[in-house]
Amino acid sequence: MISSKPLDIPCSLQERKVLEKIALAAHDLGVPAYLIGGFVRDKLLGRRTKDMDVVCVGDGIALAHQVAAALGDNVPVAFFKTYGTAQVKWHEFEIEFVGARKESYRRESRNPEVVAGTLQDDQNRRDFTINALAVSLRDADYGTLIDPFEGLADLDLKMIRTPLEPAQTFSDDPLRMMRAIRFASQLQFTIADNAFKAIQENAERIRIITQERITDEFNKIMLSPKPSVGLDLLYKAGLLKIIFPQMIDMVGVEMYEGKGHKDNFYHTLQVVDNISVHTHDLWLRWAALLHDIGKPATKKFEPGHGWTFHGHDAVGGKMVTRIFTKFKLPLHDKMKLVRKLVELHLRPISLTKENITDSAIRRLLFDAGDDIESLMLLCEADITSKNKSKVKRYLENFELVRARLKEVEESDRIRNWQPPVTGEMIMETFALKPGRIVGDLKNAIREAILDGEIANTYEAAYAFMLEKAKALELTPVK
Ligand code: CTP
Repeated sequence: MISSKPLDIPCSLQERKVLEKIALAAHDLGVPAYLIGGFVRDKLLGRRTKDMDVVCVGDGIALAHQVAAALGDNVPVAFFKTYGTAQVKWHEFEIEFVGARKESYRRESRNPEVVAGTLQDDQNRRDFTINALAVSLRDADYGTLIDPFEGLADLDLKMIRTPLEPAQTFSDDPLRMMRAIRFASQLQFTIADNAFKAIQENAERIRIITQERITDEFNKIMLSPKPSVGLDLLYKAGLLKIIFPQMIDMVGVEMYEGKGHKDNFYHTLQVVDNISVHTHDLWLRWAALLHDIGKPATKKFEPGHGWTFHGHDAVGGKMVTRIFTKFKLPLHDKMKLVRKLVELHLRPISLTKENITDSAIRRLLFDAGDDIESLMLLCEADITSKNKSKVKRYLENFELVRARLKEVEESDRIRNWQPPVTGEMIMETFALKPGRIVGDLKNAIREAILDGEIANTYEAAYAFMLEKAKALELTPVK
């Protein structure tokens, strides 16, 4: 009986149950089947995963149907005849089925010409030795690890190696160059020298890959424990200059009259790592990545003063839209958040100076709204000085800013500010049609509240409006 046999990979009871169903279905159809790829790798690494890949020497779609029927009534199967792949979703599991294949890729296209093959053929064409590990689901050797390329040893060595000549593996699917770097960053592994050299030599081939797949890998790098590892590898591999040239413009230090500025590329990488200690949110990490992206375009040397980057916050904000569009990232709420954080990233630091008025604090609360905490997180991450006492001083100053923000917010409620007197109220009071006067009155009320001239209340705003209106010779009709 299969169920009494031990597996070479650690699995939960539920996972074992699923694997046994697959094994039985494969037995009934008479096709040898194997668990392969990410699930095997992640289980051996002790990482959580529910995505299983199953390869069988035969018809993957037929096996998927047989497994779905064994798992219960109406378990859906999604299949793609052209690719010979199928997917079964059951509870939290996503199980992909494919027939073992020998693939040869056409040079200018990602679309492979698929020819059926053996398990060994299939393992040969996988990207990395750690992803070519298979576990047998056959009766004869159920649960046994099949490891023709010493993937297990590479897991131990924390090494990314290709089963075949690296140039061949990367040329088969150039996205794998990014996958290598993503795994290095995600798992904190090292890319074998020959593989990295092949990436450098083949970097140009990334151009044939769709933006969606590139972005997907890039985001996985951004979500890794220390994204700088992957970002720096992308740079050193020569991939970054192709997929993200704006980042390359930040590389390097220019000297003039004996004065240099900091290397904005490596500073940025540090800021991304810093923020990643505090948040897993992809978009806050993107904000860290782009916070200084406007610097190269605004860089100037001002004699007697040194290097300046005036306006890099606003210029950077505009670039966010362009970069999000190019990367096909969500253009609504997420892009707006990142743009806002980039545009505002200098504001909290300016509030660490002495004698800051409540009005300046109110304006920041108004502009940042509910994203004030995220902005503070970004600003704290932006402190990358090597001087420990300087870092400590900055952080303490930010604590003071936080306290002031809290104090002013508690008394004035500016964060989710809604005008106490609305445009509609103004129009009704003076029988006005929508137009400039209504807008001017609204703005005057807002400015008076932010400046602390009047309280953030209906009564104060109404009285202020009447007074302003008098100067414009407007009389209330009610
Ligand atoms: N694979 C490959 N080349 C690719 C993509 C995938 O050889 N360009 C193979 C690898 O064997 C991989 C398996 O297909 O392990 C499954 O791919 P995928 O689900 O995309 O990745 P995982 O390795 O499972 O990792 P993750 O889930 O983290 O993306």
